[in-house]
Formats: sequence, structure tokens, C-alpha cells
Amino acid sequence: MKIIDGKQLAQNLRGEIAAGVESLKSEKGVTPGLAVILVGDNPASVSYVTAKEKACREAGMLSREIRLPAETTEAELVALVKELNEDPAIHGILVQLPVPKHISDKAVIDAIAPEKDVDGFTPVNVGRMMIGERCFLPCTPHGIIKLIEFSGMDLKGKHAVVIGRSNIVGKPVAALLSRKETNATVTLCHTGTPDIAKFTREADVVVVAAGRPNTLTGDMLKPGAVVIDVGVNRIPDATKPKGFRLVGDADFESCSKVAGAITPVPGGVGPMTITMLLWNTLESARR
Ligand code: GUN
Repeated sequence: MKIIDGKQLAQNLRGEIAAGVESLKSEKGVTPGLAVILVGDNPASVSYVTAKEKACREAGMLSREIRLPAETTEAELVALVKELNEDPAIHGILVQLPVPKHISDKAVIDAIAPEKDVDGFTPVNVGRMMIGERCFLPCTPHGIIKLIEFSGMDLKGKHAVVIGRSNIVGKPVAALLSRKETNATVTLCHTGTPDIAKFTREADVVVVAAGRPNTLTGDMLKPGAVVIDVGVNRIPDATKPKGFRLVGDADFESCSKVAGAITPVPGGVGPMTITMLLWNTLESARR
């Protein structure tokens, strides 16, 4: 059984990205700039955006960090995004989701110019991805494809089961896995699937993005399967300094006894999501 080291792969790719940033600076005088907007102080979101900003600076990019109070109105947020759309120093705009309930995430996403949408969340980029046009691929799904390749599995002709149908992970990862260049056969399971284990037992790869611990257990796997765990769940734990520990959506203990390879939480998908964000920001600055 192999642990798929997302930190290692992320580090390799971030070295390439940093080199790309240096060449762009010296050859064209352009420094890639990413605006990271966080509304409110959801602790998980604070930790995600802090990690994104740090990675951005470490790659030699400009990180514009914008923290707004939870009371910010939708109109104010949309106006800010539109201002950033026009700002030549900014090549990527990221609004950390979820936004507070009184703000429509659709209104905010729709305000982002598709050419600065480095999360790949706008309908234009989602549509381009679906029809195979050049676009920004969404970061977590793109990172997942890279992780599976890094595990040594050739996806052609393999059966991939995705658990979860979110717009951020489940739906796009199913689309990317079934693209001609990847050529996996995909089953998309969700809360309406009566017997998920029936499908996962046939799977060569399982991507679990359900947002619930223990969604996938070892008895649901075919021996040797590759498991990609997208879950990040905080479990209260008084023995930890922060009072919680992180677990994925897969039960690592039982899955690791049956799987051929598995991503850990933390240190699997998370570092790759951030890496693909840097990748898209560099790509945007090059265009
Ligand atoms: N919330 C959870 N994942 C993401 C992500 O990849 N991008 C943004 N903007 N918000 C998120």
C-alpha cells in the first residue's frame, strides 16, 4: 500500500511554477498577481486563504489579501470584484466560498471576469471545460487528476467512481476523468444512490468528496484500488493543541488495508488544490 504524497507532488510543481514566474518577470516585466477575498471569519476558510496567500508569495507572485467583515453586502462585494476585473496588476481573482448566507455565491461568481477566474467557477469556464475548449480548470479536480497520475495509475479504460456531486469537486472531476485524453469510465454516486458500495467495489479509483467522515470504508473497496480523499472534516480532539484533528471522508484505517494507494488527510488533495491555483494564476499572467 502506497501513501500518495500530495505535499511532495505539490512541492515539485511549485518549483516549476516559481521558475515560470521568474522568467515572466525577467522577460516580460510581469509579476503574476492574485487577489484573495475572504468575507467573514469562518475558521476553516481563514486557514485555507492564509495557506493560498503564503503559497502565492512563496512562488514569487503578488498576493493581494482582502478581508471583509461578515456584514459586507452583496453589492459591495460585487463592486469590489468588478474593480479587480479592471486592475492590470491582478491576473486572478478568488472569492473564498462559502460566502455569508445573505450573499448569493452565484451573483459573486458571475461578477468575476472569466479571464481572471483562476478557480474555474464561472459558467463560461465550466462550459468551456465541458466542451473541451481552452479554459481555467477548477483547482481541486485538476489536482486530483495529477495525483492519480502521480500514483502511477494510467486511467485509460479504468473504472472511476466519484462520490459527491458538488459544483466544486464531484461534477467537474467526473467530467475531467471522462475526457478523451483521460478516458476513464465514470460512475457518479451521490446522496440519492441507494447502495454506493455496489459501485465502489467495482472501482479501480474512488474519489470521495461527500463532506462526511467514514463515507468510504475498507469493505467497500476492491483490493488494490486507488483512493483519493477530498474530505476535510474537523473532529473535536482534546489531545490536540487546536482542540480538533482533521480527518477525510474515507476511513483511513480500514481503507489503507485494502487500497493499493491512498491520499492522506492532511497532505493529500489540499496542497494540490493550492498548487493548481498558482498554476492557473501564472497561466493567466502569461496570456
Ligand atoms: N471553498 C472550498 N474550496 C474552494 C476553492 O477551491 N475555491 C474557493 N474560492 N472557495 C473554496
